[in-house]
Amino acid sequence: MISYIGGKARISKWIVPFIPKDIETYVEAFSGMFWVFFKMDLELYPNLKTVVYNDFNGLNTNLFDCCRDYDRLWDEISKYPCQQLGVEETPSEYREMFDEYQKEVFHSGVTITQENKYEVAAKYVYVLTQIFSGSKPETSSYIDYKGKYRCKVLIFLDKLKNPEYRKHFDKITFVENLDFQSVIEKYDSETTYFYVDPPYWKTENYYSNHDFDRGDHERLAKTLLSIKGLFSLSYYDFPLLREWFSPYEYVWEKKEFAKAAAAKSGKKQNMGEELLIMNYGENKITKPVRGEQLDLFTHTFI
Ligand SMILES: C[S@@+](CC[C@H](N)C(=O)[O-])C[C@H]1O[C@@H](n2cnc3c(N)ncnc32)[C@H](O)[C@@H]1O
Repeated sequence: MISYIGGKARISKWIVPFIPKDIETYVEAFSGMFWVFFKMDLELYPNLKTVVYNDFNGLNTNLFDCCRDYDRLWDEISKYPCQQLGVEETPSEYREMFDEYQKEVFHSGVTITQENKYEVAAKYVYVLTQIFSGSKPETSSYIDYKGKYRCKVLIFLDKLKNPEYRKHFDKITFVENLDFQSVIEKYDSETTYFYVDPPYWKTENYYSNHDFDRGDHERLAKTLLSIKGLFSLSYYDFPLLREWFSPYEYVWEKKEFAKAAAAKSGKKQNMGEELLIMNYGENKITKPVRGEQLDLFTHTFI
C-alpha cells in the first residue's frame, strides 16, 4: 500500500504463491501496510470469508479502518497539496505542513476519535509518503523530489480509486489493534491461515509506539507452535530459529532480495536472504508430519 520499514512490497510476489488456496480465514498478525494481502488475487481463494488486519500501532490500524471508506478518505487526503511532477520549485509551505503533521501525529499524543480519525489517517499518509521508504516516520525529514517524481500522496490516492484495491478493501472483515498473541488466539481455527511478519530480530527499535524484544520473539514462536491453523513466518535467519522451528519439522524457504536501503541512490546493492518458515505443505490444509514436507518444496538445509 505505502512504503514502510519491513514492508513486503517487493517480496510479496514471492510469498503469495505459498498461501493455501482453500483457506477460510486470512489473518496478518503484524499487518503494517498489508502488502501481502494486496498482492493476492482474491478470485483464487473461493472459500475465503474472513480477512483480519491487525497491528499494534494504532496509526496503522486507524489508517486501514479508514481505507474501508475509501471515498471519504480520498476526500480528506485530496485537501492537502503536494509536490507536482515537473515543478522544480516546491513551495516552502509544503515542508512546513509536513513538519506540522509529523509533530501532530507522532509527538502530540493525539487521541484518535470518531471525529478526527479521517484527519489523523490523512496526515499519517501525508508523512509516510514523503519520507524515504517509510522508515522512521516520527523523525525522518521531508524529501523534496524537485518535480522529478510523481508525489506518492497522489499514488496513494490512485489506489483508493483503483477497482482492484477496492475489492481488497471491501474484503477486510475486521481491523484489530491487538498484540499478535491475542489476535492469533482469537482467530485460530483449522481453516485459518496466518501470515506472520514480525519486526526482524534486532531491528525492533525501527518501529514507533512499541518495543519488541527477545522475549516477544520467543512468545511468538511458542504461540505459533501450538496453533490449529496454518502459518507462514517471515524472518531474516538467526541461530535460535533452528531451535524453535527445526528445518526437519517445518518447511524452510529462502530467497535473496536487494534490501530496501539498496534502492537509495549511490548505495551499493545490499542483498539480504528472506526466509519463510511454514507449518504446512503447498496447497495442503493438513499439516505435514515430520519429514512429510520434504518433497513438496525445494527444501533448504543449512
Ligand atoms: C515487519 S512490519 C510488517 C510489515 C508488513 N508485512 C507490510 O508488508 O507492510 C511489523 C509490524 O508489526 C507491528 N507490531 C510490532 N509489535 C507488535 C505486536 N506486539 N503485535 C502486533 N503488531 C506488532 C509494527 O507496528 C509493524 O507494523
